[in-house]
Amino acid sequence: MRRFYCTAGAGMEELLAEEVQRKLCAIEVEQIPGRVFFCSNADLHTVTQLKSGERLFLLLHRTEPISLPNNPVAKAAGVIQQSIVGDPDIWRQTFLTWRALQTELQYNQQRGQKRKRKEDGEESLDTLSSSRHLDGHNEMGKELDQHPKSFRVSCRCSGVIARSYTTQILSRMIGMAIKEQLGWKVDLRDPILEVNVYLSDDHCVVGIPLLKHPLASRCYMKHNGLRSTIAWAMTSICPKQLNDCVILDPMCGVGAVLLEAAQEYSNAIFLGMDTDMSQLQKAADNIKAAGMEGRLQLLQSSVMEIPLADGVVDAVLCDVPFGRKFSCSIDMPRALPHLLREMERVLRVGGHLVLLLSLQLSAQLKKIICTHEHNPSTHNQHTNSSDIHSGNTDPSNTHNECKDTPKTITFHKSCSETSNTPILISSLQAQRSHKVSLGNTDAFIQVYTKIQSEKQTQTH
Ligand SMILES: C[S@@+](CC[C@H](N)C(=O)[O-])C[C@H]1O[C@@H](n2cnc3c(N)ncnc32)[C@H](O)[C@@H]1O
Repeated sequence: MRRFYCTAGAGMEELLAEEVQRKLCAIEVEQIPGRVFFCSNADLHTVTQLKSGERLFLLLHRTEPISLPNNPVAKAAGVIQQSIVGDPDIWRQTFLTWRALQTELQYNQQRGQKRKRKEDGEESLDTLSSSRHLDGHNEMGKELDQHPKSFRVSCRCSGVIARSYTTQILSRMIGMAIKEQLGWKVDLRDPILEVNVYLSDDHCVVGIPLLKHPLASRCYMKHNGLRSTIAWAMTSICPKQLNDCVILDPMCGVGAVLLEAAQEYSNAIFLGMDTDMSQLQKAADNIKAAGMEGRLQLLQSSVMEIPLADGVVDAVLCDVPFGRKFSCSIDMPRALPHLLREMERVLRVGGHLVLLLSLQLSAQLKKIICTHEHNPSTHNQHTNSSDIHSGNTDPSNTHNECKDTPKTITFHKSCSETSNTPILISSLQAQRSHKVSLGNTDAFIQVYTKIQSEKQTQTH
């Protein structure tokens, strides 16, 4: 069984751990901040298809955190030799495993290219077996070579060690120790093998990257939108599988969320809407680049008035704009109640609403959530909100509010443009709230399920 680890954005570790268990049947799954370790026998192609990780590594070894003496440097070198390099046999063995995996990757790549050429009518698949034979020969030739022709060390560190040593000095010291102990040749420019070392107050991890490019870079995205791992997380966090479902992103931008969802669910119907025609054009380019024409439909329209009947959508996934990069013409805190009410309206009972929101918008959402316990006075004060709701209403959705409903979302009409009276939606049940990092800012993925409950009402 091979031992891997993946780096992950802050907040993505738990989702990555779930993904490796679900897709790779991985065992010994362990997460630390920024990394998930696992063992798996899955074929390499499947491992490289992971969606929530950033970079994929073969684990060389993990030891107790090291502490380096400041002075003299020779003493620090001794600790590095002993703790980071350790047993040379492990390095040789891991190198051989890495090389075998590279051969497997190369073979998969060649096979993919040949299959594509065959689909384009350029080549026969018969040549594939001979190619495998050829690869085998190459591999046999390489078997004699027990060492990488060259290597380089990339070290990242944090905590106490980072206060005394720069990553450059550490990388050089570790490189020297490997060279001395294993006789490998250093090449800083174009090495065959990259050795990654991560040192913190709690961890010492040594690994070899398996791919040149990050897992997180998607070949099917021509125009980048929301970070691919987060877009994928919005689908994966949904409490239910979305096969045979209608999935809507009413503010789809370049389509990142829908394209990630489409990778997971091959037989769902996807609808993307946006007011901005140039964004929709980019989404169309992305759909074409991903070969998904016909599976994703795009429409220019506003989330404030979704042109769909009530209860026809199984899941609404939406990255609500915030921050400078994605600011838009609407005043989002003001528009939020209306926007949510429209999304709720088109959702069927049992359907899911997954929103990516800034911490501020999330706080706004949370403030207006009322439960029976916290705000019992609101229960007898509901009136029908159809007077302020421009979309369709479905009388069959009007029920008395369930006594056991754990949470409801209340939209204060003070935020709305029509009155100062709060609006209450009693049909969205909070399922999960997950904090993620978007690089220079944090956000929440909030998950709700639509339940049978009282129709949207407003308190007096
Ligand atoms: C945060 S971005 C979406 C990013 C998207 N997830 C992506 O990966 O490209 C928000 C999008 O909402 C769109 N938008 C702004 N106001 C809108 C409205 N009233 N109705 C629908 N879309 C709107 C913007 O044009 C923008 O493309």
